[in-house]
Amino acid sequence: MTEHTYDLDNPTIQTLLNRRSIRAFADEAIPADVIDALESVAQHAASSQYLNDWSAIRITDPAIAAKLAEIGRQPYIAQAPLLYVFVLDEHRNALIAKAKSVDIDSDEFTLNGSYRFTQAQNDAVLALHAMETAAYSLGLGCVILGSLLNDVDALIDLLHLPKYTYPVLGLAMGVPAQEPKLKPRMPKSVQFFENAYPEISDDVLSKIADFDADVHQYYDLRDTDRPVDAFSDQIAKNSTANMDERKVQPVASRQGFRLDR
Ligand SMILES: Cc1cc2nc3c(=O)[nH]c(=O)nc-3n(C[C@H](O)[C@H](O)[C@H](O)COP(=O)(O)O)c2cc1C
Repeated sequence: MTEHTYDLDNPTIQTLLNRRSIRAFADEAIPADVIDALESVAQHAASSQYLNDWSAIRITDPAIAAKLAEIGRQPYIAQAPLLYVFVLDEHRNALIAKAKSVDIDSDEFTLNGSYRFTQAQNDAVLALHAMETAAYSLGLGCVILGSLLNDVDALIDLLHLPKYTYPVLGLAMGVPAQEPKLKPRMPKSVQFFENAYPEISDDVLSKIADFDADVHQYYDLRDTDRPVDAFSDQIAKNSTANMDERKVQPVASRQGFRLDR
């Protein structure tokens, strides 16, 4: 038998290694057949237990896009020619189960429990990432939008998200109108471990210090007046950020999820 050969320079690997977030788009519509292909790719992502428990809402109404940009506090959201909000979705499955005589208002119904909440979120993210990669392979650029979760209640109202759904992330896409540099990544030795999680040693922290210096040389095109903060400074700042408005449990509970189960 001949041994398998690997082309490490193949277009998929090149696409993934060159991926960077794009936050400015040409004023150019994305053709319908491209949209159709991107949506098929998303559907072909893996799905936990084959439950297909995610949906994506394509935003074509400029007024809704403008409201999303307001919620996200990022103007480029409204400027993206193609915009989706991915949601974890047990609503459709609940109705399917109900039609098969499952009492979805009883404790027998478990699709609204914490395990499915996290797995459905994983499914939505995998689908989004497949779409993102396919978009880059076509020369488009994307930015993932966690900022839409600034006000989950408003987002749920705006998109009429029903019981047993919860928004996961947005994805804005278009022909790139900017060329940001690739953002540095930390050394593999501090992110990939073998067989068990190691004790984080001074050696790891000294490698992070080197990484800090790399990151501090990077300029984000959103603020070209100064380099971005060193990685450690970003972590320290984020580690005490106020997360009150991003609490998941209260809104998930309003959407019918029981994260205690
Ligand atoms: C879950 C998630 C949420 C994100 N949310 C936002 C966002 O709301 N706005 C934004 O401009 N970028 C957002 N990003 C993009 C990250 O800032 C970006 O991926 C990171 O800084 C690394 O830069 P790169 O993608 O150019 O390599 C998000 C990325 C992820 C994975």
